Amino acid sequence: MTTEPHSAAAAEGEVPGDDPSGPIPLRLLPDTARVSGQGHLHIGGCDLVDLAAEFGTPLFVYDEAHLCARCRDVVGAFDGGAAYAAKAFLCAAMARLAISEGMDIDVASGGELQTVLRAFDDDVAQRVVLHGNNKSVAELAMAREAGVGRIVVDSFAELDCLDELHRADGAVPRVLLRVTPGVRAETHEYISTGQADSKFGFGIGQGVAIAAVERAAAMSSIELVGIHCHIGSQVFRVESLARALDVVAEFAAPLFGDGGPAAGRLEELSIGGGLGVAYVESEQAPTITEWGDVLSSRWAALARQHGLGARLVAEPGRAIAAAAAVTLYTAGSIKEVPGVRTYVAVDGGYGDNPRPMLYGSDYTAFMPARAGEPRPDRVRLVGKHCESGDVIVRSAPMPAGLATGDLVATPVTGAYGYSMGAPYNRIGRPAVVFVAGGDARLVIRRETVDDMLALDVL
Ligand SMILES: Cc1ncc(COP(=O)(O)O)c(C=O)c1O
Repeated sequence: MTTEPHSAAAAEGEVPGDDPSGPIPLRLLPDTARVSGQGHLHIGGCDLVDLAAEFGTPLFVYDEAHLCARCRDVVGAFDGGAAYAAKAFLCAAMARLAISEGMDIDVASGGELQTVLRAFDDDVAQRVVLHGNNKSVAELAMAREAGVGRIVVDSFAELDCLDELHRADGAVPRVLLRVTPGVRAETHEYISTGQADSKFGFGIGQGVAIAAVERAAAMSSIELVGIHCHIGSQVFRVESLARALDVVAEFAAPLFGDGGPAAGRLEELSIGGGLGVAYVESEQAPTITEWGDVLSSRWAALARQHGLGARLVAEPGRAIAAAAAVTLYTAGSIKEVPGVRTYVAVDGGYGDNPRPMLYGSDYTAFMPARAGEPRPDRVRLVGKHCESGDVIVRSAPMPAGLATGDLVATPVTGAYGYSMGAPYNRIGRPAVVFVAGGDARLVIRRETVDDMLALDVL
């Protein structure tokens, strides 16, 4: 299996990273994480040991202050505007938090769209961007009826469908065209989307994207307002994203510039999301501000050079949500394989964090009741699902003496954990709490067997 690369900087030995045998470094934890005098980890003023006792395990604990701060970082970094990529983690509380921090929301399905719409009494649709490489007629109809701010069109079939829907009701949605620039992000192949051989978007290299702009500009059933480009996720080299801007600017200039078939239609250029985050002690990632600065200044120069007036917008998910959360588990069976390793099985696993199995992703671990202690032991932290590949952390650093019943935690689990999880083996997904100012509020309740049985039809 191909593994996601560690940070480019770490791989090149430019940054030392943290000692994986030392205490869990605060930089991998949410902003408000503190170790108490007792050695317990507190987040948002709440003791994780108390949260596990109150809400049970597995449990996702999100630091609200951290989420708000990252949203503000993004809003500050992109003058043109920014959307939170809801696929990273979505529930009604998260939608409200992102909107109240000034972000729009990017949704990738009718389900995500409805979650956002239903989270608000007032009309939030204008703040929503709809994505999807295979949107159904029903999804497009729902988005148009709700009046979403933008639809990011991925295919000619979608343009046909928008035309058809327009004939019935005359509505004219604002549209961006998603293009694939042929720039490969240095990340796992499953989350790399900018290369020509991709299921997403109109290829620039093959001339397909030109045809899409020509067609969209001539349609009266949509209002073409821009171009969208997302080259992949968990990207550490901001330069890869900046290279995509170079390609898009080159592509857009003759089409959207004076005399082009879409002259004056490039209001907005979205560079998508993709900023990587550090998951383990050896990794370092650029900050949101560094990412925004590089991209904004590159776009300002390109826009000047090519005479393009578009504002640059972005839609990060991982960089906002990943490090905001930790997952709490209870250790169950502990199995020694003499001379090989120790397996520590916990009460969750693949169902709340499929990333290690999907991408070979690395995580680290710690004990919330002994957060200030060194972690000299190495164990393999595994889940309870019926798969040998259900490994959460291949080599988890732990304080000595971890025993059955102890609380263990994995940091940086706030993105693509809960949202990609599944009730495999009919093990329900965990509860999710938001913590702030010493209070914890349940934002997603634990999934029960009754929830699953409710879908069975006899
Ligand atoms: C179109 C689009 N925008 C934004 C994102 C968010 O990416 P990330 O969470 O890496 O910031 C994704 C994720 O794959 C995406 O496909």
